[in-house]
Amino acid sequence: MAQVIEARLGDDPHRLTAALEDGGLILLRDTPFPLLEAERPLIDPAIFSGGSKNVSYAPDTGRLGGTGLEGEALERCRAMLARYAAFARTLLQQVAPDYLATAEQRRTSFRPGEVSVRALSPRKDDRLLHVDAFPANPNQGRRILRVFTNVNPEGRARHWRLGDQSFEAFARDFAPRLKSGPDALTASVLQALKITKGRRTPYDAAMLQLHDLGKLDAGFQAGTPQQELELPAGASWIVYTDSVLHAAMAGQHAFEQTFLLPPSGMAAPEKAPIRILERLLDRPLA
Ligand code: SIN
Ligand code: FE
Repeated sequence: MAQVIEARLGDDPHRLTAALEDGGLILLRDTPFPLLEAERPLIDPAIFSGGSKNVSYAPDTGRLGGTGLEGEALERCRAMLARYAAFARTLLQQVAPDYLATAEQRRTSFRPGEVSVRALSPRKDDRLLHVDAFPANPNQGRRILRVFTNVNPEGRARHWRLGDQSFEAFARDFAPRLKSGPDALTASVLQALKITKGRRTPYDAAMLQLHDLGKLDAGFQAGTPQQELELPAGASWIVYTDSVLHAAMAGQHAFEQTFLLPPSGMAAPEKAPIRILERLLDRPLA
C-alpha cells in the first residue's frame, strides 16, 4: 500500500529514508518555496514556448528550455529555477542526507500548466497511473527520486492518485507481458542516432514497457486499488516515482527536481526496482 508519511523538517532522516525506500511519499505540508516579488509575474503559463508542458533547467549547465521568455525576464526565470534546485537539494539533505554522496542532481522543472485539461496520447498522459521511465534518458538502473513543491498562488491543491500496489506486485502482474531487449546492436543504434542519451539497457526497456503497459491497460487503471491525494499549496513532497504508482489529476504551478541515485546509495539496495525485476525475471538487466 502506497503510504503517505506526514513529515516535518527535523524528523529522523533514517526513518524517512526507510519510508521512501518502502514506497512511501514523504509529505511536508508546510514547506513552501518562497517566491521573490520579482518572480510572481513568471508564475503564468504564458511563459511557455510552443507546445512545451514544462520549463526545464539543467543545474550543471544552466541551460533553460521550454520558455519563450527573453532578456531580463529569461534571466529572472533561470535564477528562479536555480533557486528551486538549491531548495530541493536542501530538502533532500534534511530527509535523506545519506543520499547526497551518490545522488546526481538532474533536471529541474517548473510546471505552470493546468494538469487536468491537457490533451495527450495515453502514453504521455500522466493522469493515468504509472511508474516513471524516460525514453530518451536511460537511467541504467539508477533510481528516480523526485522533489515537488506546489506554489499555486490561489492556494489550490495539486491532486494526485497513488496506486496501493507495491512495485513488486505491479511488476509481477505485468511480467508475463514483458519482452526482453533491446539487443546490444539496437541499443548502440539508438545511442548513435542520439535517440537515447547513453545506452538503453534491458532495465530501461523493462521500465518503459511497464510504464506503457500500465497506462494502456484500462482494466488496471480502473480496477487497481488506489487513493486520491491532495497536495496543498505550500507543501513539498518527495517520492521515488520509478516505483510508486502515481497519476497527476489536476493542479497548476508546481516545481519539480529530479535526482538519480544508484542502488548502492540506498539504505536497502535490494529494494531498487532493478534488483526486484532481476529476481522476478531471473536474468541480469544491466
Ligand atoms: C508525473 O510525474 O506523473 C507528473 C507529476 C506532476 O506534475 O504533478
Ligand atoms: Fe510520473
